[in-house]
Amino acid sequence: MSHSDEHMIVVEDLHKHFGGFHAVDGASLNIDRGSITGLIGPNGAGKTTLFNVIAGVLKPTTGRVFMDGEDITGLPPHTLFHKGLLRTFQIAHEFHSMTCRENLMMVPGNQSGETLWNTWFGTRRIADEERALRAKADEVLEFLTISHLADQKAGQISGGQKKLLELGRTMMVDAKIVFLDEVGAGVNRTLLNTIADAILRLNKERGYTFVVIEHDMDFIGKLCDPVICMAEGHVLAEGTLAEIKANEQVIEAYLGTGLKHKDKVGA
Ligand SMILES: Nc1ncnc2c1ncn2[C@@H]1O[C@H](COP(=O)(O)OP(=O)(O)OP(=O)(O)O)[C@@H](O)[C@H]1O
Ligand SMILES: [Mg+2]
Repeated sequence: MSHSDEHMIVVEDLHKHFGGFHAVDGASLNIDRGSITGLIGPNGAGKTTLFNVIAGVLKPTTGRVFMDGEDITGLPPHTLFHKGLLRTFQIAHEFHSMTCRENLMMVPGNQSGETLWNTWFGTRRIADEERALRAKADEVLEFLTISHLADQKAGQISGGQKKLLELGRTMMVDAKIVFLDEVGAGVNRTLLNTIADAILRLNKERGYTFVVIEHDMDFIGKLCDPVICMAEGHVLAEGTLAEIKANEQVIEAYLGTGLKHKDKVGA
């Protein structure tokens, strides 16, 4: 596995075992800087587990993960977050009673709010920071075409709008690479297109690299090149979606697990 400048992320022979079960079983792959890389594969292939290991949510059993040439294996999510590596999470239940704007303003940044010095002497600075944070949140809402939701409670917006808000959280910091796990699941077509457009714009205009897990092949086809296909914990094939769809091993892997209609490759 090479460590050329093109590769933002290098995953080397990664294993994650749960007891005797090998959820990730020798996965090796590279994510190119500036790419929108698709990660597909049948249910249980180990995609989410791989994401969780890369993003520091789970520690690998063995194997290495590098970001920009630096070994980041096993670093906790908040450390990776400050390096610009983000994995989106569902908006936690306790944030449902906060507005969409407040949810964005909650994303940890370099706020100096909590220190004792600031509590005594820094009220003015805190107010300035809060204003800046609010302006940033409003800018993000506008980028995502959901300005009209700014004052709505996060618990009251639709599932698709929540996905956009989750994506919005990655825009409150200087993200370099964002891992999206099934952002399109259960989202209607119109919002799915809005999400896809936001991903494309973040990629083109702000240089975000994305890794996208998705079962919807139209979504993958519209956004992703290359596409990596996993099965049984390792990488089966990598290429354009057309190449992946024509790959015998990929077709077999999907057939072997009883394919769902929406997963159908080669269709
Ligand atoms: N915490 C865990 N403990 C035990 N087994 C787990 C755990 N997490 C995942 N697994 C198992 O590891 C395998 C891979 O799961 P994973 O969620 O990574 O698959 P996936 O490719 O994301 O599937 P899907 O497309 O259905 O989301 C599955 O068989 C799953 O049951
Ligand atoms: Mg999954």
